[in-house]
Amino acid sequence: MNRRNALGLMAIGGATALATTRFAVLRRAEGNPATRVPRFELALKIPAVLKPTKRTETQDEYDIVQSEAEQEILPGHATKIWGYQGVFPGPTIRVRRGRTAVIRHTNRLSAHTVVHLHGGRTPSDSDGFATDMVMPGETRIYKYPNQQRASTLWYHDHAMDRTGENVYRGLAGFYIIEDDEELSLPLPKGDFDVPLLLQDRMFAADGSLLYSTFGHEGIQGNVMLVNGVPWPRMEVSTRTYRFRILNGSNARPFRLALSNGTPFTLIGTDGGLLTQPAAVQSLPLAMAERADVIVDFSRIPVGTKLFLLDTREGPGRQELLRFDVTNRGRDDATIPSRLSDPGLLSRPATANTRTWTLQRTFNLSHGMPPFLWTINGRQFDPDRSDAKVPLGEIELWRFRNEGGFSRLPHPPHVHLAHFQILERNGGPPLPHERGWKDTVGLERGEEVLVMIRFEQFRGRYMLHCHNLEHEDHAMMSRFDVL
Ligand code: C2O
Ligand code: CU
Ligand code: CU
Repeated sequence: MNRRNALGLMAIGGATALATTRFAVLRRAEGNPATRVPRFELALKIPAVLKPTKRTETQDEYDIVQSEAEQEILPGHATKIWGYQGVFPGPTIRVRRGRTAVIRHTNRLSAHTVVHLHGGRTPSDSDGFATDMVMPGETRIYKYPNQQRASTLWYHDHAMDRTGENVYRGLAGFYIIEDDEELSLPLPKGDFDVPLLLQDRMFAADGSLLYSTFGHEGIQGNVMLVNGVPWPRMEVSTRTYRFRILNGSNARPFRLALSNGTPFTLIGTDGGLLTQPAAVQSLPLAMAERADVIVDFSRIPVGTKLFLLDTREGPGRQELLRFDVTNRGRDDATIPSRLSDPGLLSRPATANTRTWTLQRTFNLSHGMPPFLWTINGRQFDPDRSDAKVPLGEIELWRFRNEGGFSRLPHPPHVHLAHFQILERNGGPPLPHERGWKDTVGLERGEEVLVMIRFEQFRGRYMLHCHNLEHEDHAMMSRFDVL
């Protein structure tokens, strides 16, 4: 048998092994009483906004304890979660642009943790490099300057080798930056500005969270949660709402739509508001991507029920959240036709170009697991720098998903800087990709060309696939801004 055939057989064997693991784990999770949740009966919850413990002229200080707690996620069951302040999802942190946030995290869990502000422009020592670990009992202070546009960010765990499990158990929350420009717009505010964290989970019969990497392919659960509530309902009035949607799943991509066929009005992406709103009928959202949308219920009769759907899985489309139009509302919001000046870059005539290929490579040395998740053929090594990038210079980066057997996308994510997508598969970017991004969904065989410029901070940072099980095993690269 020649080498190619041998590799082919190994790959088929590997794929079969993975399918078996996935099936076995899902079988444990399905059909157990814990999972029989009444759909669209539980009310959507909105994570509480964390209060600073101290405010000075220029900064807000917060204290967060990472701890284990019991939470009723499935009715009648107490589930052990790991939470920032002992809650899942973590409290929302809302800050003003230009005011530094100083966050003191204490780890009262039984495993090491790292905190990362996803989408944050943060100095290297506060960015949550995977090996900057906070051991059980330890405290670490993270400083976020918040010198960046108003945007919907999130904070989540990033610990070396166990990010997937830490996030799965609950270590994730919203981090929203506000600024004067955005606050001056007549967009929906207060109770009508609603963060929606989409996640999937699996539960055992006793209500505990079941975690498995699905043979490193990435966990996909059979219970859909929005803000930690399984298949919730939300009562809305006949007016416009702003939804900040975050795909906080470890490995589940979505394609969102509204069941009444109306489009979302997209107003912002990972890095804040767009220049102008865009109507988007079908909204793909890979892991860690955010979409800031307006939904207009004003012409919908009271008594109507409609759904936020995930249509990615095809005809057996899945309802995630039900909107019950229950009240007449007075709408004080409008959507301006010009939202913001995102300060987009123009493409330079020449620029340094780098290619990052996300791929599955055969594990020839040990054989188990049969393959590895790599970037440019290599696994993450915290001591190896894969790129030295000059501060302040525009570079062109090409991300490629080299395919393989996985039906899941690889969404590359870059720390420190947002990027602009120039091309997707040689054509224009998708409608929801025309603003600043920090994460981009790449299906098998796809590639994007982006323009990126690192500013403000030098030091070591990471880029990686935001399938968290891929990231842990170890589809991640270190780069250094010099
Ligand atoms: Cu959202 Cu490096 O992560
Ligand atoms: Cu990040
Ligand atoms: Cu991946």
